[in-house]
Amino acid sequence: MTDPQLVLAERVQQALGTAFGPEYATEDPLIRPSQFADYQANVALSLAKRLRRAPREVAQALLEALDTTDITAEISGPGFLNLTLGDDWIAGQAVRRLRDERLGVPRPAEPRTVVIDYSAPNAAKEMHVGHLRTTIVGDTLARTHEHVGNRVIRQNHLGDWGTPFGMLIEHLLDIGEEEALRRLAAGDGNAYYQEARLKFDTDPAFEERSRRRVPLLQGGDPETLRLWHEFIEYTKRYFNHVYTLLGVTLTDDDIAGESMYNPMLADVCEELTHAGVAEVSEGALCVFPPGFTGRDDMPLPLIIRKSDGGYGYATTDLAAIRYRIRDLKADRILYVVGATQSLHFQMVFESARVAGWLHDDVHAEHVQIGSVLGSDGKMFKTRSGKSIKLTELLEEGVVRAEAVIADRGYDPAVRRQIARQVGMGAVKYADLSVSHDSEYVFDFDRMLALTGNTGPYLQYATARIRSIFRTGSYDPADATGPIRLGHPAERALALQLLRFGSVVEAVAELSEPHRLCNYLFDLAQAFTSFYEGCPVLKAEDEDVRQSRLALSALTLRVLLQGLHLLGIEVPERM
Ligand code: ARG
Repeated sequence: MTDPQLVLAERVQQALGTAFGPEYATEDPLIRPSQFADYQANVALSLAKRLRRAPREVAQALLEALDTTDITAEISGPGFLNLTLGDDWIAGQAVRRLRDERLGVPRPAEPRTVVIDYSAPNAAKEMHVGHLRTTIVGDTLARTHEHVGNRVIRQNHLGDWGTPFGMLIEHLLDIGEEEALRRLAAGDGNAYYQEARLKFDTDPAFEERSRRRVPLLQGGDPETLRLWHEFIEYTKRYFNHVYTLLGVTLTDDDIAGESMYNPMLADVCEELTHAGVAEVSEGALCVFPPGFTGRDDMPLPLIIRKSDGGYGYATTDLAAIRYRIRDLKADRILYVVGATQSLHFQMVFESARVAGWLHDDVHAEHVQIGSVLGSDGKMFKTRSGKSIKLTELLEEGVVRAEAVIADRGYDPAVRRQIARQVGMGAVKYADLSVSHDSEYVFDFDRMLALTGNTGPYLQYATARIRSIFRTGSYDPADATGPIRLGHPAERALALQLLRFGSVVEAVAELSEPHRLCNYLFDLAQAFTSFYEGCPVLKAEDEDVRQSRLALSALTLRVLLQGLHLLGIEVPERM
């Protein structure tokens, strides 16, 4: 454990135990960054009332009990304990980090099986920016859990089943298989859906045919299933195209769409009925999970079998959660899905708890994803108001990125590759750097800015460190120190580098990628101050140069690793 904040927390806890008795040794020492020291412990203030002593007196007792090896401590203000780490300790830890391939990321005591449900576009409709965001956030969580050392099972819960497929298949027959499939693979799914919908609403014969097609699909009629299969295959091609463009880790093996659960739905209803969890109400089979009431205080039902015998979204999700627990052996299930579905998931989780599927050792969490807005503050569509094709939007990002990268006479293919990395990096970082449940405005100009908390800024900062090594003909792998901290900017940079492990751990624990973004942004800024104040290649003294090269090499590795966890590629040059 070398995270400075954790080291200090442990020290102060020891002191709490020594000064006030073992029952105080688990007290939160309230370590916070400080203006006048590296950190301050605020626990004396919170403890004073309980101990009926003056805060400064409590702080004094703590100070006397504190093991001050490698740190200096003093009391300030009303009873803060200011804590400063010794330069030698920081430098020593930084050198150890250089030799640690995990860069300080701790391994979990016991690896857990984490099922992550993300992306989940609907085969019948266009993938929109909302799905883009769940895809990007989910992918970072998957990468992070994997890196930490948990067993990750990705689940792409495709919307690939249900009544709309009746009309979608009939439309396919009307316009001809070939034409229909060509359009689906090209990502015209939305227009396709709208045409089918229009016919359904205006042409009674088409409506009738569509309705008759649904039981054929559900009953497994071979020709209907074949058409449905084709339909899904071609839509998947389009989704895969988007995933590849973005560098998302999802593959066809991760697809566990709604259709997969079809054979389990009747059994789920039976098990819930048998257990007394579900009951028939007005002809429909319902679960009334405790704690949910609608208007007029009536218990709110989760309908799992409609009165016509049909199953819906809730039934599929109950089958999915049971499958994830029983078959996939999940310890933790993350649902990276739009915040608007919050009530649905609360009710599904509560029902699963009542059914005994979820319990103290298996957790399900809805990682709520906020909406992406247009500059008008409404749901993001296009300027013209029609919904946009996602691939076109992403392509626009790539084209715009070309204008951001410097013209160094690159080969056009190389230039295009860099533009893709920068453009997609910008889009992804914008999704990741705000907390996942808040809304934000989709704005290419802001995302692509080379200054500020953006993807391109971090890519640029990383490329710049690489260029230091190139210019001096040094290999970062050879920069192993020793590290000496003379200048305050060197010290601040080293201290920041030591925080990486606990930040990654927090991202996995709390499902909050924006913490990693903020950390990397702070790190890049600490590097900039260091680079401005401390010449590296031009350092007079060879020892100083080696020390600064080592700090630069460690910064480079942390930035690369951090960006990799965010799924952001870094061009060699920018
Ligand atoms: N396909 C759904 C949608 O587009 C999202 C599915 C999320 N996952 C789930 N298990 N319900 O809204």
